[in-house]
Amino acid sequence: MDTKLLYIDTIGCQMNVYDSEQFAKGLRPMGYTLTSSLDTANLVIVNTCSIREKAQQKAFSFLGRLATLKRKKPDLIIGVGGCVAQQEGSRILERMPHLDFVFGTYAVGRLPKIVKEIELKRSSFVDIDNSGGMDGLEPIAIVPSAEDNQSPTRFVTIMRGCDNHCTYCVVPHVRGREVSRNPANILREIRNLVKSGVREITLLGQNVNSFGKKEGSCSFPELLFQIHDIEDILRIRFTTSHPKDLSRNLIDAFSGLNKLCKHIHLPVQSGSNLILRRMNRKYTREEYLEKVDRLHSICPDIAISTDIILGFPGETPEDFDKTLDLIKKVEYDNLFAFKYSDRPYALATGYPGKVSESVKKERLEAVLDLGKEYAAKKNRSLIGSTELILVEGFSKKQRKSVADRKINGRQWSGRTSTNKIVNFTKGRGFYSNDVISKGQMIRVQIDKASVHSLSGTVVEGGEKVSVPTKQRVFPPEFVEA
Ligand code: 5AD
Ligand code: SF4
Repeated sequence: MDTKLLYIDTIGCQMNVYDSEQFAKGLRPMGYTLTSSLDTANLVIVNTCSIREKAQQKAFSFLGRLATLKRKKPDLIIGVGGCVAQQEGSRILERMPHLDFVFGTYAVGRLPKIVKEIELKRSSFVDIDNSGGMDGLEPIAIVPSAEDNQSPTRFVTIMRGCDNHCTYCVVPHVRGREVSRNPANILREIRNLVKSGVREITLLGQNVNSFGKKEGSCSFPELLFQIHDIEDILRIRFTTSHPKDLSRNLIDAFSGLNKLCKHIHLPVQSGSNLILRRMNRKYTREEYLEKVDRLHSICPDIAISTDIILGFPGETPEDFDKTLDLIKKVEYDNLFAFKYSDRPYALATGYPGKVSESVKKERLEAVLDLGKEYAAKKNRSLIGSTELILVEGFSKKQRKSVADRKINGRQWSGRTSTNKIVNFTKGRGFYSNDVISKGQMIRVQIDKASVHSLSGTVVEGGEKVSVPTKQRVFPPEFVEA
């Protein structure tokens, strides 16, 4: 079989990162190996995101630039997947005739068939069919190969779609109704990942709280429990949890499951009840703050991050002040803020009271500045402490310049349980034959802090660090909260 080169450009969220891995796995038996060089590729796939106007523009501008490459290499096959593909369908081919195929979010499992068809017939193809449900909900089971990303941390999508109808959001339209995967398959996938060296997994879903509810399979806390029992999984993370559905059981899991990392992403979107109602978020700021309080009382050092939208239609200066006030109350460890943008099919697109670009920009900057203040404060508070870190690999700086003389020896990188990036070097008393390798737990003393990361020196590593992987005090019976 000829070896053919596959280049994948992934835009958007972690779910797209996971899907891109599925594309690569599905195409591997057809002779495709991944390349990081666009110019050498025989097949280019762009995995797109349409959550905000800007992400969609990014996809179209990259796709547009591929026209030059196609002119130079007429045999090159170019495909578009992901949310923009699902949303726009054949319109993409009309706009950009140099593209060969469009496959939507329901067609991940059909990708190999589509590519085979294009290789044989060389005519364009569109598959945004959602009538048969999610083909590819269960990922392709394949023995991990050397080509697989050798990172000790991986994403695992446990559910797709969303049944909420936040009025600004395109997700329910491009990813469809919520469906959960079979828990047995998720566990099998994680056990296989462990065999290839993975030690930390992040479970992905638009609203993990409702995992298994429709299917009647098992609840999300129960799934966490079962994953917790997999030996050699050292850390578990998840995202995203909708504040309205954040149950007591899940909050309690932060104190009961010691492999569950002390971080929760809890998108608030706005601090104003009026705006929350118009966004159809189904919680008030008071209810949100109550859940934050409960999280803090169950797990005092939990890190909380959030998403905020600025300039939702009708957002007044008073609404905006309430958002600033809520940020001050929660003191987020990290926040992601976005200017509101109209999305196709989303109800708010038709709402009156659109906020001007300049006001959105002003509010965005104010929120980002405030967010940075708290992030820096939280990071500074860790100076002098010793943190347990999972080694993920060399630091960005080290990777850029292996021979960087400014780094005293090698610099590695990993994260705290609270999801803070830590760059570190070997400390005094740590000998050259004390091995530091990916996937290991080590203890690092924090010496410095900035807004985005921490740095420090290893005080204990390798076999010496005991990780209490077996302990769990969370009861096996769950009461619906
Ligand atoms: N405009 C701006 N931000 C949006 N988000 C979702 N839809 C929009 C939109 N139309 C943001 C929300 C969500 C994050 C993933 O993207 O904050 O939590
Ligand atoms: Fe969009 Fe709301 Fe669903 Fe999140 S919960 S994907 S914001 S509709």
